[in-house]
Amino acid sequence: MNSVTTQNPIKITQITDTHLYGTPSGTLLKMNTAVTLNHVLELVKANESGTDLVLVTGDIAQDASDKAYGSFLETMSGLNAPFRWIPGNHDNITVMNRIAEGTGASEKTAQLNNWLIVLLDSSILGQVHGKLSKTEIKFLASALRSAEKDDSIDHCLITLHHNPVPGNSAWMKDIGLENAIEFFNTLRSSKKVKCVLYGHIHQELDFMHEGVRCLCTPSTCIQFKPSVTSFCLDRVNPGYRSLQLFADGSIESEVKRVSGETFEADYNSPGY
Ligand SMILES: [Fe+2]
Repeated sequence: MNSVTTQNPIKITQITDTHLYGTPSGTLLKMNTAVTLNHVLELVKANESGTDLVLVTGDIAQDASDKAYGSFLETMSGLNAPFRWIPGNHDNITVMNRIAEGTGASEKTAQLNNWLIVLLDSSILGQVHGKLSKTEIKFLASALRSAEKDDSIDHCLITLHHNPVPGNSAWMKDIGLENAIEFFNTLRSSKKVKCVLYGHIHQELDFMHEGVRCLCTPSTCIQFKPSVTSFCLDRVNPGYRSLQLFADGSIESEVKRVSGETFEADYNSPGY
C-alpha cells in the first residue's frame, strides 16, 4: 500500500452506479447512461479541483462487457485524478481486474495522510444482493487490525457497493448486504472506523448506524424513489458525492446533482 501525504482536508469524489453498456447508445429504463455520466463528470470537473482520489463504487457496467469498462476508463481519464473501483451486482470482477491491470484501479486500500480507505467486493456473480465472502471479511479484519497498531492511521473509511443497512423501501428487502451483522461486528473491532460509503440503492442517504456514519450516493443515471412499497423511479437528476476528510476524523460531505437538464426515463417501469 502506498501512503500519500496530501492536502488537509483530503478531497474524495464518489461516483457510483454508472451502468454503462458496451455500446454508447445503451439505455437503462430508457435513460442513456453514457450521456448522463458525461453530464455528471462535467459537474465534477467544474466543482472538484484537486480531488485526491475518486472512489467508483460499483455497477460500473450494466452488461459487464470489456467495451463498457474500456469506455469508462477512457471517460474517467478526462478527470485527471487517480481512482479506485469496486464491483457491483452487474459487474464482473475478473473482467474488471483484467481491464484495470497496471492502472492501480483495483487496489483494495489507500492511505491518504492519517486516513485509511478500504475497498471491499460485496458482489456475487449473477445475484442482485451482496455478501462479503469469508476471504473479504478476513481481509477487512486484517486491515483494521493493522490500522489499530499503526500510529500513522487515525481514521478509516470503508467502501462497498451494497447497502449494509436495509433500504427504506419494502421492495429493497432482499437486495442489500446479506451478512451485514458480520460486517458491522468486524468494524467494531476498530475504533478508527468513521464512515461506510456505498451505492446500489441509487439515492442520497446520510445517517449514523452502530456509531459509524453511513453515506449512500445517487447513481450517475436512474434514481430510486425512497420510502415506497414497490419499485419506483425518482424524478431527481443524476449526481455524485464529494467528501472532505479532516485530520481530526470529521467529515464534510455533499451530494451534487446535474441541474438545468431533463433526462428521459421510463418513470412507469415496475422494476429494473
Ligand atoms: Fe446500480
